[in-house]
Amino acid sequence: MLVEVMVDYDAVSERAAELVAQQIRKKPDSVIGFATGSTPLGLYKRLVAMHRDAGLDFSKMTTFNLDEYIGLLPRHDQSYNRFMWEHLFEHINVSPERVFIPNGMADDIDGFCAWYEEQIERVGGIDLQILGIGANGHLAFNEPGSSLGSRTRIKTLTAETVVVNARFFSNLNEVPRFAITMGIGTIMEARRLLLLASGESKAMAIQTTLEGPVTAMAPSTIVQMHRHAHVIIDERAASRLKNKHHHGISEPKPE
Ligand code: F6R
Repeated sequence: MLVEVMVDYDAVSERAAELVAQQIRKKPDSVIGFATGSTPLGLYKRLVAMHRDAGLDFSKMTTFNLDEYIGLLPRHDQSYNRFMWEHLFEHINVSPERVFIPNGMADDIDGFCAWYEEQIERVGGIDLQILGIGANGHLAFNEPGSSLGSRTRIKTLTAETVVVNARFFSNLNEVPRFAITMGIGTIMEARRLLLLASGESKAMAIQTTLEGPVTAMAPSTIVQMHRHAHVIIDERAASRLKNKHHHGISEPKPE
């Protein structure tokens, strides 16, 4: 694991944008896994600026989103589909036919989940998966207790996640209780993981993720088992780390 502690949220976003841009430049037909939530917003803002001001070309990129609520139309203002188009896809030259976001309105959810996995396989797997983290250690909507070998499937959100997400809806009853999510096994097959976290509210989850034992009760701990996990966090999110192993780790290594 490569853990980089940056001074603040802007620096986290800047560093993440640099890495995603590097990946796209090196391999224009990269397959990128995207996350929603507030954490990657700064990254997406920067990718939009890199496209607009420096011509960063996304036309050959394929994308897979981690998750989507069940029961929200793609155009619903809280759907993850809408989120991705509003904050990123509408503003870059991505090809719409290469954008994959779980369909929370699918008639046959299980069939859809199997198809989603097949699409990831068909394009040769995900090169770089962007991840946020829940305060309870969830990755995508893999809540505590999720199998560490799980695949794309329907999940029930925990009461805690429903309450956290309620800030985006007019009342608690409107918050969806179910979601389609890539599984932990699906995420772990990505060739590189880029896990981002910022702020005090993520400090406990980050301490558990990086220093705790690997357990399904905190699915994010599985990143310890990934060969190329890159964790970029700010000082607040790093504030509970006991081990200062990350100090100096981002210094350039000898050629
Ligand atoms: C969203 C997702 C979630 C979020 C997590 C953190 O696609 O996968 O696991 O990454 O809930 O959300 P924020 O960034 O809003 O704190």
